[in-house]
Amino acid sequence: MDAKQAAKRLQALRDELNHHLYRYHVLDAPEIADAEYDALFDELTALEQQFPDLVTADSPSQRVGGAPLGEFQQVTHEVAMLSLDKCTTSDELQDWIVRCQGRLDQPDELSFTCEPKIDGVAVALLYEDGVLARAATRGDGQVGEDITANVRTVKSVPLRLTGSGYPARFEVRGEVYIPQQDFEAYNHAAAESGAKPMINPRNGAAGSLRQLDPKITAARPLTMFCYSLGWSDGSWQPQTHVEVIQCLQEWGFRVNPLLSEVADLEQCVTYVDDILAQRAELGYDIDGVVIKVNNLDQQQELGTVTRKPRWAIAFKYPAEEATTQIVNVEFQVGRTGAITPVARLKPVFVGGVTVSNATLHNMDEISRLDLRIGDWVMIRRAGDVIPQVVSVIDSKRPADAELVQLPTRCPSCNSPIVRPNDEAVARCSASHNVCPAQRKEGLKHFASRLAMDIDGLGDKLVEQLVDHGLVETAADLYRLQADTLITMERMGQKSADNLIAALERSKSTTLARFIYALGIREVGEATATGLANHFGAMETLQNADAEQLEAVEDVGPVVASRIVEFFADTQNVAVVTQLVALGVQWPDVAIKREQPLSGQTWVLTGTLEQMNRNQAKAHLVDLGAKVAGSVSAKTTQVVAGPGAGSKLAKATELKIPVMDEAAFLEYLQQHGIDTSQ
Ligand code: IVH
Repeated sequence: MDAKQAAKRLQALRDELNHHLYRYHVLDAPEIADAEYDALFDELTALEQQFPDLVTADSPSQRVGGAPLGEFQQVTHEVAMLSLDKCTTSDELQDWIVRCQGRLDQPDELSFTCEPKIDGVAVALLYEDGVLARAATRGDGQVGEDITANVRTVKSVPLRLTGSGYPARFEVRGEVYIPQQDFEAYNHAAAESGAKPMINPRNGAAGSLRQLDPKITAARPLTMFCYSLGWSDGSWQPQTHVEVIQCLQEWGFRVNPLLSEVADLEQCVTYVDDILAQRAELGYDIDGVVIKVNNLDQQQELGTVTRKPRWAIAFKYPAEEATTQIVNVEFQVGRTGAITPVARLKPVFVGGVTVSNATLHNMDEISRLDLRIGDWVMIRRAGDVIPQVVSVIDSKRPADAELVQLPTRCPSCNSPIVRPNDEAVARCSASHNVCPAQRKEGLKHFASRLAMDIDGLGDKLVEQLVDHGLVETAADLYRLQADTLITMERMGQKSADNLIAALERSKSTTLARFIYALGIREVGEATATGLANHFGAMETLQNADAEQLEAVEDVGPVVASRIVEFFADTQNVAVVTQLVALGVQWPDVAIKREQPLSGQTWVLTGTLEQMNRNQAKAHLVDLGAKVAGSVSAKTTQVVAGPGAGSKLAKATELKIPVMDEAAFLEYLQQHGIDTSQ
């Protein structure tokens, strides 16, 4: 290939690869498989190696990260990168709208846009003749740092624009961030390889962009939402923010699909509430909603004060992270005896509520965090998720910070705590029949919504009932009387009667719920459903051995052995029997019969002596087989009685297995078919 041909091929490869990067990273809608992309990419790099002069700035090969930098160059922003005024209530938002109206010549024409405020790092992208020429951080708003080499590695940032009509020189601004799932995956891998985990997605994004070696940045899962025009050479005169975003999208930038134009305060507030409700499902961290005046002339008219535009405001959501101090670490005993360390915190307002406990999962987590009692920590409460300790603030560690020790004995029943080497989880060695804490948790689980769904039997009440010795097993719940219940704290006649009625109602359940309610280790809701459908009856499940259990979908050796262990305990079996005697019942389950012959085609030929053709056929169909009238290459098995003729000959010719009637009867019996009738 000569240089001219190479240049042509390279151009085609660049266009094609950039198109696929766009489909994958901007639209999230790939058109080719990863391997196909890799093949094109390999062709590109091989050709570029052969013709190094033909490497262009928009080549996808430039995204893998070039040579390390000694330092970042400073960049003076042509137009300052501003920050935003904020509000936290609809009254404050209304004040802002009224102020905007008061300053405008034609306040009637005022409309707004709303979009999520991404919790990432602000970046300005300069394009010259459609090619990414420079990327810079915000810095102090006036002067930032040149991070072009790093931003090139962000696959959703176009190296060359698509479409037409973009200005020869212009700057686009947006937020670089790490999606939550990628963040989790990164930290998971970091934990495995011993690398330093990221504190949170925002911090991770900032740290990734600040790498002097772009190859490190290239390995980080960064992406970008573009949210505004920084400035342009004047050849493009959009009228509204919505138009800006539409054009940016056409030119290949990734923009937030949740951008919405709204007319008034009421619609702004609805948007703010909607996004707050979706916050946990967005897949990326946000800290609020940005509300902007849609009309760009009006934006101009409103102008800027002290580095904040008057035409935009951030409605801030409650922070999901806060710092506080560890007052103590206590150990809770779960339903299966698992010992979970729980951090008792100096109360702190986070994610919209006051939090005083955070889970620490297990001892490995405490070591990973290097957490001590007395430490200052960053905690996170996202959505309804249990608050987590994110990191320890080393610089604030008090001199008397105390190491956390796993207790040697169960705080509830004083039995030894064991920690088998292969497990991260420490456990109380006693059974739930001995350990009150396990018993309480087991009963809470039994009563829970997805299990027996006993309305009104809350955690506190379960604890009281166990502490007063009124309830030991799940069966005891159904022996409770209203006059005993009213002796409990905060329990009047009415709530006692209600609880008795709820207990009565809960007796009509399903086999799947009942199995789940038993709280067998490793048997969650889905497994319980699988077991119910497979075995159809409690007794069959109770008597199943490991091998029979493993025939159930998703049941492996571990789950099977937990189930066997559970029913090997005579107390557990006794409780099941008592529950049924007390009236717990469920409708029959239609067993989904195993279909060992599904996908097979059988042919019957000759005379059968022990049964007629139709009976034989019915048995085979029961086992899932198709019964055909003639032999072909698709036939799985032929059953041949005396007098078989051409079909048997054909089977022999095609080397299809043949069995006689005696073998067939034995086969059916092995598969649980009763052939006596
Ligand atoms: S518009 C005039 N839109 O919030 C400022 N900013 O306090 C124009 N941010 O660091 C900003 N998401 O990087 C805008 N959808 C969004 C945003 C957003 C996040 C950041 C921005 C800046 C900070 C402003």
